[in-house]
Amino acid sequence: MPYHVRLMRREDIAQVTDIDREAFPSLWPPTNYRHELENRMAHYMVAVDESKTTEAPPVYNVPEKGLTGLLARIRRLFNHHRFFPEESAVSNEYVAGFAGFWIMAEEAHVVSISVREAYRHQGIGELLLISLIDLAIELEARLITLEVRVSNTIAQNLYRKYGFVQVGVRRGYYTDNKEDGVLMTADNIGAASFRAQVEQLKKAHAKKWGMVLSRVSR
Ligand SMILES: CC(C)(COP(=O)(O)OP(=O)(O)OC[C@H]1O[C@@H](n2cnc3c(N)ncnc32)[C@H](O)[C@@H]1OP(=O)(O)O)[C@@H](O)C(=O)NCCC(=O)NCCS
Repeated sequence: MPYHVRLMRREDIAQVTDIDREAFPSLWPPTNYRHELENRMAHYMVAVDESKTTEAPPVYNVPEKGLTGLLARIRRLFNHHRFFPEESAVSNEYVAGFAGFWIMAEEAHVVSISVREAYRHQGIGELLLISLIDLAIELEARLITLEVRVSNTIAQNLYRKYGFVQVGVRRGYYTDNKEDGVLMTADNIGAASFRAQVEQLKKAHAKKWGMVLSRVSR
């Protein structure tokens, strides 16, 4: 299936928030992606499924009279899109997953990487991680760090595949169930040996999934 990765835009926020909610239902407070996009340290990207588009925004076809009509008018008055019109300036591109990191000095810290449930196990998480690594190298980060739940062996496998190693454990890091967080890092990401390893994995990924990898587009 054709996919491309590009930087996240305001009009992706609604879809990214849905994906976030699906992957991390207990995350509270939820991440405010409007703030994240304004944060100069934050870099977010989305994987777009080129074979699909989002549905058109709902058309409100409700009676204008009586209590139902009144409630509908009040709901419209306080509609999210009324206050954040730029987020509903719909790009109808369909977002299958997203990833983001914060860059501080020479460290890129992964804040999120998530794929819609229906799109998992098809190489998209890996596509996003490759794009994230490429962008971190381009921004001259020296290392990438992240925390991942002890129980999240799927994500740990993905990170290990790309050279991340466990460097510590944060006891009770996750506030919802006090689960430990495994701290992982990939060091010296600008080094020729690391880049060569990623290049090999990229080729294997492209061969397996038939996705053409290119630079993260703006
Ligand atoms: C983690 C996540 C992003 C992986 O995305 P994905 O698109 O399903 O992963 P991919 O198909 O690209 O698989 C890439 C690698 O992940 C690992 N992986 C994926 N599915 C796996 C599974 N069911 N069991 C074990 N490892 C698995 C493997 O290392 C795999 O490489 P391989 O194909 O060579 O074995 C996805 O499961 C997700 O969104 N999870 C919820 C959010 C989350 O936990 N994010 C991480 C927070 S730190």
